[in-house]
Amino acid sequence: MNEKKTAGEKAAEFVEDGMTIGLGTGSTVYYTIRKIGERVQNGLKITGVPTSQATAVLARGCGIPLADLNDTDTIDLTIDGADEVDPALNGIKGGGGALLFEKLVANASKKNIWVVDHSKQVEKLGAYPLPVEVIPFGWKQIMKIFEEKGFRPVLRMKNGQPFQTDGGHYIVDIRAGHAGDMVALGKWLDGLTGVVEHGLFLGTCDLVVVGDGESVSMREK
Ligand code: A5P
Repeated sequence: MNEKKTAGEKAAEFVEDGMTIGLGTGSTVYYTIRKIGERVQNGLKITGVPTSQATAVLARGCGIPLADLNDTDTIDLTIDGADEVDPALNGIKGGGGALLFEKLVANASKKNIWVVDHSKQVEKLGAYPLPVEVIPFGWKQIMKIFEEKGFRPVLRMKNGQPFQTDGGHYIVDIRAGHAGDMVALGKWLDGLTGVVEHGLFLGTCDLVVVGDGESVSMREK
C-alpha cells in the first residue's frame, strides 16, 4: 500500500469550494495536489498558494489557479508534508529544502494539515537531520558554531554544488537529537545571524493525516 498516496489523497477531502489553499512541497503532498487538481477539473473553485517552484509547476500542470502569497490576505487551509511529527504535532520539515516558504505560508494559514506515512511519527523530534537555511555569505562561520555545539553540521549538496533553495540560500543539516528542548533550540537558531529559517515547526500543525498500512488515521492538536 502506498501510504503517502492514501494520506495525501485523504487530505484533499478537506478542501472546500471557494477556499484559498496553501500547497506544500514533497512526495506526499504531491498526491494531495493531484487529487485537488482532479476536483478542480470537476468544477471545484479554489486558489492555490504554492510553497516552492516545484509545487507551482505541479499545481499549474494540474490546472489549479495560483496566487502569490503577497496577493493573498488569508489562507484558509494549508496541506503539507513533514519529515517527523511528535505526539503533540510538533515537527521537523525541510527535507526537500522548501522550509522557508513553507513556514511563511503555514504562518499565514488559518489551519494546517500535514500528510505523512507512518514512518514519520516519532516520540521525540531530532533523529531526522534538522535543516537550517543560511545565507551563502559566511556560511562556514555558522558551521563552526554548530560544530562547537556538537550538532555535526553538513552543508547540503546537489550535483557537486551547494544546494540552493528557491530563496537563493544554502541549507545546513544538523543533528539536533541531543538538544532536548526544541523550543529553546528554535529560539537559539532564530537569533543566529546568517540563519534565515530552520525546519522546526512547533505549534503549527492542527491535524495530521497518517497513511498506515491499508488505512488512514488522523490526530488533532
Ligand atoms: C519540503 O521542504 C519538506 O518540508 C517536505 O514537506 C517534507 O520533507 C516531507 O516530504 P515528503 O512528503 O517527500 O517526505
